[in-house]
Amino acid sequence: MIKQDVIVIGAGAAGLFCAAQAGQRGRSVTVLDHAKRIGGKILMSGGGRCNFTNMYASHENFLSDNPHFCKSALSRYTQWDFIGLVAEYGIAYHEKTLGQLFCDDSAKDILNMLLKECEKVNAKITTQCEILSIDKTSEGFILTTSKGQYQCESLVVASGGLSMPKLGASPYGYKIAEQFGLKVKPTRAGLVPFTLHEQDKNVLAELSGISLDARASCNNTSFNENILFTHRGLSGPAVLQISSFWHPGQAVEFDLYPNGDLHRELLAAQQSSPDSQLATALAKFYPKRYVQMVLPYLHIDNKPLKQYQGKQLEKIAEAFHQWQLKPNGTEGYRTAEVTLGGVDTDELSSKTMMAKNVEGLFFIGEVMDVTGWLGGYNFQWAWSSAWVAGQYV
Ligand code: FDA
Repeated sequence: MIKQDVIVIGAGAAGLFCAAQAGQRGRSVTVLDHAKRIGGKILMSGGGRCNFTNMYASHENFLSDNPHFCKSALSRYTQWDFIGLVAEYGIAYHEKTLGQLFCDDSAKDILNMLLKECEKVNAKITTQCEILSIDKTSEGFILTTSKGQYQCESLVVASGGLSMPKLGASPYGYKIAEQFGLKVKPTRAGLVPFTLHEQDKNVLAELSGISLDARASCNNTSFNENILFTHRGLSGPAVLQISSFWHPGQAVEFDLYPNGDLHRELLAAQQSSPDSQLATALAKFYPKRYVQMVLPYLHIDNKPLKQYQGKQLEKIAEAFHQWQLKPNGTEGYRTAEVTLGGVDTDELSSKTMMAKNVEGLFFIGEVMDVTGWLGGYNFQWAWSSAWVAGQYV
């Protein structure tokens, strides 16, 4: 039996960071992970450059049934604390857009930093370790694993969500919560591309590769970023963002001329070039291929501008400002960046991340019902929740 003060389940962003924090307090720590290679999501993140935090991160960038829960951890370990650590390691980074910070070189820099932080405090990492059972004792927990038995005072569950099963994702964290009587909020894929109904897909798949500026809106929330047509459906940052707010059966509204008044533009074009075709006028604002495909799809006739009368141009502009699309679904956990829902935050202390009714059992990172927007927020939640737990385990 291996005795440790702390066992962490999951050697991802949150698990490794928590192990390092606990180690800094002189606690003996072992991190157990069933995967062969650890840090898979970190390495894949941000297109290999890891969008490790966001300069503007605040509790407003998170979804949870209890929107107040994340406030305390985010304010005790902030994006500036993590940026300070990244700078200490001499990792070069840049802001790509909207406060999103990426490594200049490679996501490996972040993973290596976390491993170094663990090494400095002698926190051990055991891979390819299946956890077979967990038992509560008066002193803590006993874990029976494929690599022997472990005993610990504090058990930290950092096993992440369900997205990308190929990278080691499993529902084990939710099972542990249920074993100890904690409620788990229903889970679903977030930050994920939409799939389309056949009649939309047949037309829109032809636009594959085209990206447009747009404002995507659903359930009183809007994101002003790009959308991208793909051969499978609709993706791009605005779509990924709004997917976390969308529920099956609902329509998403896209404003495809989000920063201006298309009606006014078309009236001006009608005045200056009355003999021009509508498609020619629209091609000033959109790619030609898009205009050619989308006019028949939106049931708009292409005629010389002078032939449009009364409110016709206004109606045409409206079709672009208020394009309503009912997705068929999402691509699901296979490509989702995050899992919405998870361990109910009402069961946990926002100060320590410990279960209110199970002494010594902690949950951190994505396994809980706190999900960030796209843009470095999910990693910030991993760092903040892990740091907080690391002070108490
Ligand atoms: P994480 O998933 O990182 O780690 C969980 C660990 O637990 C894994 O190592 C897994 O193997 C292990 N585990 C699971 N079940 C187990 C079991 N039964 N036994 C033992 N171990 C088990 N976020 C962001 O802020 N910026 C970004 O750029 C990106 N980019 C991005 C790209 C892609 C492709 C994905 C899929 C996700 C992102 N994200 C992101 C989201 C981000 O990666 C995610 O929110 C964090 O990695 C969550 O950290 P956790 O440590 O909670 O889980």
